[in-house]
Amino acid sequence: MALAIRTHEHPQNLEQQALRDEALRGFAASPKAMSPKFFYDHRGSQLFELICQQPEYYPTRTEETILRLAADAIAELAGRNASLVELGSGASRKIRLLLEALRPARYLGIDISREFLDICTRRLAADYRWLDVHALCADFSQPLKLPAEALGQRPLAFFPGSSIGNFDSHEARAFLRNLHQALPAGSGLLIGVDLVKDRGVLERAYNDAAGVTALFNLNLLERIRSELDSDIDPQRFEHRAFYNEQASRIEMHLVSRDKQQVRIEDRVFEFAAGETLHTENFYKYTPGAFRALAGECGFVSVAMWRDPAQLFSVHFLRRE
Ligand code: AVI
Repeated sequence: MALAIRTHEHPQNLEQQALRDEALRGFAASPKAMSPKFFYDHRGSQLFELICQQPEYYPTRTEETILRLAADAIAELAGRNASLVELGSGASRKIRLLLEALRPARYLGIDISREFLDICTRRLAADYRWLDVHALCADFSQPLKLPAEALGQRPLAFFPGSSIGNFDSHEARAFLRNLHQALPAGSGLLIGVDLVKDRGVLERAYNDAAGVTALFNLNLLERIRSELDSDIDPQRFEHRAFYNEQASRIEMHLVSRDKQQVRIEDRVFEFAAGETLHTENFYKYTPGAFRALAGECGFVSVAMWRDPAQLFSVHFLRRE
């Protein structure tokens, strides 16, 4: 097969306008907050890949171990000639663990970062020449229309990394319902879900000693500085991440080091010293709570795997 990927266009506005609208909305909100999806420009995607290699960041390596051990069982559940649809394809490392076991007919990578998606799907097409590779640049937190020729008869959607944990319960339901609409009945959904656990393990994962998570968080301000008409100075903010036990989530914030004014276009926003911009949540689930959530949205549980320390879970669900 020729080394080519098929790129599909999605009718969404993912460009600068969306970052501008979100920054203006989020800086005017009380408390100030922005959606984590704006972390993922090319540099943000690279920094996230580096986070995944940090010794404190357990989700990636734990999920990879589970996938390695469960790959044959997953292949059996997915069946032959499946179409793998990866949501948030990133560096596509985890998909590589599945490709050999599943031998799918086709692969569709979906990511919000066009440049990163392009590089990663091209790499996959070069490494797996037998695979029909498709790419779709889209924001999967919004309703999705998946290209029929990339779906085939037996789609298996793959949503690794517990990215579902970046949604609150309302957003997680909306995401699963959108996915339910986008996939035909009988499709599989393989999804990584982080588990409720000890505060120390969680907080270390978001405060790595090398400071990569801090750079990742601050990159959001770097984007505002370089892509919008703004005088924001990222050095006047610092990274903070902690476990909010009551809400069962890690929270990430950018804390203003001093009292300051930030201009975006012709709007000026005041920050008190210590005031924060809330940039990300990462919700934790018990297996039962996640199954109940998925069930409400039309996905039934078929199988679940966990590591021995019960840090992380991978669920195989079937779309009803
Ligand atoms: C993509 N998402 C699941 C990651 C997480 O763990 O919330 C993003 C991340 N943010 C900081 N570290 C990693």
